[in-house]
Amino acid sequence: MHALGTLEELPQAYRDELTGQNLVPLWPNMRAVLPPNIPSRRTQALNWNYDAVRPLLLQAGELTPMEKAERRVLVLANPGHGLGNMQATPSIYMGLQLILPGETAPNHRHTPNAVRIIVEGEGAYTTVDGEPCRMERGDLILTPAGKWHEHHHEGSGPIVWLDVLDLPLMYQLEGSWAMEGVPQQQTLPRDKSFAEYSAAGVVPSINFQRTETKAPMLRYPWVRTRACLVEMAEHYREDLLRIDYVNPETGASLFPSIGFGALMLRPGETIRLPRRTTACIYHIVEGQGRMSVDGGEALGWREKDTLSAPGYTDITFSNASGSEPAFLITADEAPLHRYLGIF
Ligand SMILES: [Fe+2]
Repeated sequence: MHALGTLEELPQAYRDELTGQNLVPLWPNMRAVLPPNIPSRRTQALNWNYDAVRPLLLQAGELTPMEKAERRVLVLANPGHGLGNMQATPSIYMGLQLILPGETAPNHRHTPNAVRIIVEGEGAYTTVDGEPCRMERGDLILTPAGKWHEHHHEGSGPIVWLDVLDLPLMYQLEGSWAMEGVPQQQTLPRDKSFAEYSAAGVVPSINFQRTETKAPMLRYPWVRTRACLVEMAEHYREDLLRIDYVNPETGASLFPSIGFGALMLRPGETIRLPRRTTACIYHIVEGQGRMSVDGGEALGWREKDTLSAPGYTDITFSNASGSEPAFLITADEAPLHRYLGIF
């Protein structure tokens, strides 16, 4: 591509006249927004090391009571997007949220879709539109756009989870807002929706209410996902051990914006992920190893760490253990890229 005219080549008086009319010449900026062959990407490959973040999160528990925070969260902000913009990737917000024993995060709802991935602690539950959902290590708990949700913690130690939201996208669309609510009545049995969809290929009969397909299952227990990956490893000798989380009624991604998945690395295994357009985040549920992006310097990771990587890259993951498997939960913008026809 040949070089185009610059802003400086235009007479100042002409530029001032354009500005006065709220006009901008395209050609000086065109290569920046339509770069040749590959998009510009601000998402940096990095690791939010849990050992470094955890003490700061616990300190937040001492510094800020729940009534002053509502959601006591440290946002995992990718510096490539500017820390204040609270973006892990272009469309994904991530935050580590802390709830101390006996605390409640008050009922609210909002337009951004949210998933929480439980990082540590026991005894907490999230009530979503009247359904209490247990929160155990590695579980995914869904609160799709518009659903009421509040968090309770009846356990003895702190509970921490990773919030994953399409907040940056909703904000850019000028569609992000929230509403406070009164404490919820638990009108439904605990983990009702998980019970209904707890076996693959089996759905509740038509006698049940099956009108709500936006997110018919609210809790995706990690033990089931892990068991599936281990079972796959029994049967696959070399293939990538990877699953997608889907809506059990439709097979669609959990949200139109964010796709969730999980990966297993066999002991000692190095995998090269298929090159994709979308940026991705990786939360380490078990194991330790290294991630390398486009052959760059390898980032070490271990259990409870969370990593990011830009799209259009070659990504490799290595399991450092020769005896134990490693497990990762992934989140990316693939559903959105598919919808837009760019995946
Ligand atoms: Fe929320």
